[in-house]
Amino acid sequence: MTNKEKQTKEHFCPDFRSDSFLQNSKKVFKAMHDSGCPFAFSEKDQYYAVASYDEAREILGDHDRWENKYGAGLSYSHPNCDVLLGTDPPLHTTQVNILAKAFNQKKYHEIQPALETYIQSQLQSWYSDGQVDIQRQLFKVLPAYALCTLLGLGAITNIEKEWPEHFAEAAIAIAEELYQPQDTKAEKITTRAARPESAESVMKSVALMREFIGYCKDGMRSGALDESSNPVCCLLTTCDSDGFLLSEEDIFGVLNFLLLAAGTSTTILLGNITYRLLSNPEQFELIKNDRRLVEHAIEETLRIDSPINGLFRTNREEETLGPYTVKKDSKILMLFSGANLDPKTFDAPDTFNILRELSDIKKHLSFGYGIHYCRGAELSKIQARCVVNMLIDNFIDLKLIGEPIIQTRAPALNGFESLTIGWVV
Ligand code: HEM
Repeated sequence: MTNKEKQTKEHFCPDFRSDSFLQNSKKVFKAMHDSGCPFAFSEKDQYYAVASYDEAREILGDHDRWENKYGAGLSYSHPNCDVLLGTDPPLHTTQVNILAKAFNQKKYHEIQPALETYIQSQLQSWYSDGQVDIQRQLFKVLPAYALCTLLGLGAITNIEKEWPEHFAEAAIAIAEELYQPQDTKAEKITTRAARPESAESVMKSVALMREFIGYCKDGMRSGALDESSNPVCCLLTTCDSDGFLLSEEDIFGVLNFLLLAAGTSTTILLGNITYRLLSNPEQFELIKNDRRLVEHAIEETLRIDSPINGLFRTNREEETLGPYTVKKDSKILMLFSGANLDPKTFDAPDTFNILRELSDIKKHLSFGYGIHYCRGAELSKIQARCVVNMLIDNFIDLKLIGEPIIQTRAPALNGFESLTIGWVV
């Protein structure tokens, strides 16, 4: 590379935190891939970004060189003071081994009937209107309801009513902080309080989590509950092979993390798949005639519209990324959404095509890769299956109404705030 080329490339940095990026992300990634330099550096916020599939996968797979101990967000958290995504082995290994007992695919599948009932009850409340903002009315709350059900919060409160709304609002408020640079992070409580409804939801959700941990501890002490009663009871009693037990604060951290992880990105996926199917009616017809293609549609939506644009790693030693020399402990944004559109890995990456080979589509990085690979991927897919089947089974002449509104509140998320659909009653 000549010096001039190097200089040009060094000056090309889209602002991945801006509204304009969220409105035009596909064009930005195409420009990065076409330039032959799918890397970027932000002078303003002092972080690097990787949008190519091979390099992103290599970095995600090498947790010794590219660490998580400073957190998955743009600002630096205290090393290894976090849970899961904010930790490296051996602490991370211990935590995930314990977590695997409390949350697993069997437990996710057990709550599917409750999710179907919830979807039907929501649907009944607006079906006769012939149209609904489905993003706000259903997709915002369904993943939060799924989390309430999974945790067993119904034992201490009515999870059908206000809680999904509070959980969803709290989750997006937490997601807003992911791409906040260092100097504003100190004001995070103020940020959450910037919207009174968010502040109230964060406080209520956090208080409910604390109350639930207390309820589980008391119940275990009195013998009313045991480790199989719910995932929190399981976490309170499960040791790893060295006898390590999660502290109450760790469990609280896990619950807060799940609020963010389980809520926001599944909401985004549900809107994205609905949009893709209704904008590609011929492919929607194929699925109606062969439900095996639902799986293809879910994976292809995850590929083309990664619900999370990207998360950060930090490098243990000095590294080279394309034209950049990256000093030790720099923040590097792993752009899952950019890697999934890399033409070297996916043919015609900007085309939504459910007829691609399933094994090819599933190479997408939307759930990450390596030791931090998403632990709730199957739960989000269960919800996506329920939603696609609901769209097929309940509506005649389903279509999009007006233009959907892209969410810009949390730049880490890639999807809609509002999506209105209509049907014949
Ligand atoms: C469409 C929905 C979802 C998407 C796109 C998604 C995506 C991700 C991504 C990108 C990561 C980080 C991977 C990395 O940095 O290498 C992650 C981690 C995680 N996710 Fe999800 N997620 C979704 C839903 C869920 C749900 C429903 C749950 C919980 C029930 C969940 C639980 C987790 C956990 C516990 C981790 C941390 C894993 C670790 O550090 O070992 N996620 N997810």
